Amino acid sequence: MPPISPIKPSPVKLYDFHPTVADFRSAVLRGLSLPQKALSPQFLYDKRGSELFDAICQLPEYYLTRTEMQILQDNAGEIAAALGNRALVELGSGSSQKIRILLEAAPQVTTYVGVDISRQHLQEACAALMDDFVGLDAIAVCADYTQPLPIAAIPELKNRPTIGFFPGSSIGNLEPAEVIAFLKTVAVLGDLIVGVDLKKSPIILEPAYDDTQGISAAFALNLLVRINRELGADFDLEQFEYQARYNQALGRIEMAIASRCDQTVHLGNAEISFQAGETMRTEHSYKYTVDEFQLLAMEAGFQPVQVWMDRHQLFSLHHLKQI
Ligand code: AVJ
Repeated sequence: MPPISPIKPSPVKLYDFHPTVADFRSAVLRGLSLPQKALSPQFLYDKRGSELFDAICQLPEYYLTRTEMQILQDNAGEIAAALGNRALVELGSGSSQKIRILLEAAPQVTTYVGVDISRQHLQEACAALMDDFVGLDAIAVCADYTQPLPIAAIPELKNRPTIGFFPGSSIGNLEPAEVIAFLKTVAVLGDLIVGVDLKKSPIILEPAYDDTQGISAAFALNLLVRINRELGADFDLEQFEYQARYNQALGRIEMAIASRCDQTVHLGNAEISFQAGETMRTEHSYKYTVDEFQLLAMEAGFQPVQVWMDRHQLFSLHHLKQI
């Protein structure tokens, strides 16, 4: 008899394009030397950050996740038909919860590729999918999905028709001009199913990004914790605070970390000065009307063929076809 191993070998194939610590350091130093200091949202998702984001998705104030899940649930048959039997590539797959609704409804889909920046989270999510969906091959690609996907390096996708799934309104992190460039880049995946949060009252929007339990604040501030740990910086967490405001003119939530006082932070041998009240941008989260988003999609060369929404029109899911 072969020896019994207490650890189940992971059947998940991983293609790892995770940014290096050097990439992280240069991105942070570059961002903090801008007149308006800025940090890239992709770095929010270390292990702790991914856990905090999952907690955000459960918040009563954060309507996005449960609304999109409801839309997927209510239209699963139609969306599954749109998928056909193509290989399904999810960008920013996180805990891969939403895809479960589609996979239930689309047993003809046998290849799933999750692309995410959070490696361990991604591997665990893909392993759980393989356990729960018999006959499904789940492949993990650890990468920044805003960069061109190295399809050629993923043999499972070579010469296979694919469809892209980009839920959660993660596209809202991009500036509108970047959306067009991004959509052109991901056009290599074929058709797309994209989740987009809709414009609505700040009375609903602002609490979704600044909850009473302080989880949204902890999520943003965790980036400073990560920079301290991984890059050897000395951010004093007591001297910074989280802010989230809806900019109605630009249709975006602006998330930032503000300095509570004049101070200097060290990062390796760099010194970064802050004035009291000065901010570092962590994220923009753009909101669109259906028409606004369809216009962007058309500028990128897609044909909007279907939009699914919840009955309160909080959130939209777009099927964009390749022209
Ligand atoms: C992952 C970009 C979709 O903008 O709603 C939520 C990120 N940040 N709360 C969003 C986020 C703070 C989220 N996306």
